[in-house]
Amino acid sequence: MAVQIMVLNGPNLNRLDLREKSFYGDITYDDICRTVENAAHDLGFAVDIRQSNDEAEIIDWLHQAADNKTPVIFNPAAFTHYSYAIRDAVVMLKAPCIEVHISNPLSREEFRHTSVISGVASGTIAGFGLDSYRLAIRAMQGLLGN
Ligand code: DQA
Repeated sequence: MAVQIMVLNGPNLNRLDLREKSFYGDITYDDICRTVENAAHDLGFAVDIRQSNDEAEIIDWLHQAADNKTPVIFNPAAFTHYSYAIRDAVVMLKAPCIEVHISNPLSREEFRHTSVISGVASGTIAGFGLDSYRLAIRAMQGLLGN
């Protein structure tokens, strides 16, 4: 049976096409889902893709991933920069967690230069648009030794 990866997306990513074009281009949330599904399919993974604007819901999903030892690919969006509660939930994961960003936060406003997640993630991929998700699936394959 295919290994399942949980792909979590944080706040405002469901409205990506209405956000700053200079950072997100014309990418839509549907594009993210399709890209992840195709990349996962190509490498033989099953994916469970979710998006929430609610910090508590994301924490509950991370608890589920921890309980089920599910690997996680995670774009925490703005929570990246300040949510210690989400960081604490990531620490409890039992399988790898790859942090992903569409844009490169280090080339943007100062407050985006801090990630409270990076230090507890297996690794971070940022700045490659939809390819950030493709690269994350690929990196997860390496981490899981598949
Ligand atoms: C983002 C970068 C964050 O700084 C921002 O708050 C987002 C999206 C990205 O994918 O580039 O919502 O995580």
